[in-house]
Amino acid sequence: MDARKKYAIIVAAGSGTRMGGDTPKQFIGIGGKPLLRHTIERFLSLSFPVGIIVVVNQEKKEYWKDYCRQSGFLERYAIPSGGITRFHSVQNALQYLPDDSVVAVHDGVRPFVTAEFLEKMFTAGEEMGNAIPAIAPVETVREVSGPESYVLKRDDIRLIQTPQVFRSEVIKAAYKLPYDPAFTDDASVVEAAGWRINLVEGLKYNIKITTPEDLALARLRLE
Ligand code: C5P
Repeated sequence: MDARKKYAIIVAAGSGTRMGGDTPKQFIGIGGKPLLRHTIERFLSLSFPVGIIVVVNQEKKEYWKDYCRQSGFLERYAIPSGGITRFHSVQNALQYLPDDSVVAVHDGVRPFVTAEFLEKMFTAGEEMGNAIPAIAPVETVREVSGPESYVLKRDDIRLIQTPQVFRSEVIKAAYKLPYDPAFTDDASVVEAAGWRINLVEGLKYNIKITTPEDLALARLRLE
């Protein structure tokens, strides 16, 4: 069987309210480039071509297109509009995903992902139908319930990252489900549609830039 064509859906339509400030974090400049560009460049550095689908908010589209034009970045890409939640953003992006392909859905605010890791995830997702990165927590984990809290069995817990990779027919079928607030990532949608999810060892420093402290770290690493 021929290898399938590879695509990346990069979700970057969040408002970034936890960061404070007016500019959503994915557009903050680091080392002279928007954070989102650092993330997309990782996908462009692979040993095979990856079609890029970047989801941005309607009101940020002109800004992003102008940026790409003026800086000569990304000549061919699809740019669907963001939705009200991450689920709706991914759902909008799936119209641009060709059949018989493999797609990595990745947060625009995870710029530390490496080429080697992306290639590993694409291979696993293509082979198994779905593959998601998981990290065993090093800290003790407790569940809180009102004023009470309970220690959990740490060995049974995994923290889930992106990129989450799927064969196109799997993710397209799953995203026909109606929205449920319990869908916090793509795997939760695919699981609700009946698939068993495959965990792959994640990448420790593949963090989601969320707070001003994370942004300071990103500056140190990327500038
Ligand atoms: O808000 P959260 O941290 O879960 O966002 C994860 C990723 O999803 C971010 O890259 C954000 O830009 C994106 N997102 C989106 N559309 C939304 C909400 C979040 O593309 N409506």
